[in-house]
Amino acid sequence: GAPQELFYRFQLLPVHGIPFMKPIADNWDRIETFQAKPDDLLIATYPKAGTTWMQEIVDSIMNAGDLKKVKRAPTHVRFPFLEICNPSPVPCGVDVLEETQSPRIIKTHLPYELIPKSFWEHECKVIYVARNAKDNAVSYYYFDLMNKTQPHPGTWEEYVGKFLKGNVPWGGWFHHVIGWWKARAKHQILYVFYEDMKEDPKREIRKVIRFLGKELSEDLLEKICQHTSFKAMKENPMANYSAMPDSVLDQSISPFMRKGEVSDWKNHFTVQQNEMFDAEYQKRMEGTDLKFRCSI
Ligand code: A3P
Repeated sequence: GAPQELFYRFQLLPVHGIPFMKPIADNWDRIETFQAKPDDLLIATYPKAGTTWMQEIVDSIMNAGDLKKVKRAPTHVRFPFLEICNPSPVPCGVDVLEETQSPRIIKTHLPYELIPKSFWEHECKVIYVARNAKDNAVSYYYFDLMNKTQPHPGTWEEYVGKFLKGNVPWGGWFHHVIGWWKARAKHQILYVFYEDMKEDPKREIRKVIRFLGKELSEDLLEKICQHTSFKAMKENPMANYSAMPDSVLDQSISPFMRKGEVSDWKNHFTVQQNEMFDAEYQKRMEGTDLKFRCSI
């Protein structure tokens, strides 16, 4: 068949109890035994929490605001995606990383306990971005509609149930955000909230600069802030995933840069879905001091 059929809506298979798309599950040994280097930086997120935004911020900082360099290639080419394996429209992470010069900046959606041990042996730094569950769910729903590699989300009503159960690629949101939150005690992890980035992007970009051990002038900070705004990224072909073919990401169904807001969940949850979600949320978040804002 046509090449794009190779990538069509993979089935989910469990890896250590977490559902992953088949190519990742089939190649798990390669991911688990991946050899990190001490200056590797991980950008870790639950899918749709603001990965691309943080990638653009980090790349802008690493290139000291030189936008020509930052615009050298689309996001998925600039950042190896650790666990992606063939067949995939995105290059296989482990293969690409073998050829990538240090310092390597690596994207991952893996939950904390599935990160290859080598990263911790080398005490690598991690930037983790977390987003409130309701907006994260809405964003993931639209993504699963338009991303032809991921299982179809079904109706929104059906999807809310799947999301709460963690029956989606990379597993459950609760497990992910809590696992990484606890991991802060043991590792060099900058835990950033999407809502904080929306509220005061400069403040959060400053935190990232400090965490990376860099120093940038206020002018460059301002420049990076502008370059990584939702509007600028939506219009930037190197940041908006327009480089991916429609057969993989169908942006006529939903643009990758969809809304970029806090509280869009209010346009999607019914009163009943919201009550059900809140009840489950309370149970699952009990005993953690991890707090999210669903509006700002
Ligand atoms: P929405 O679907 O709510 O619009 P990821 O990069 O992890 O896949 O996350 C994608 C989400 O982050 C999308 O959310 C996207 O619009 C949003 N996003 C991307 N760049 C952004 C930016 N510069 N500012 C705010 N939101 C951004």
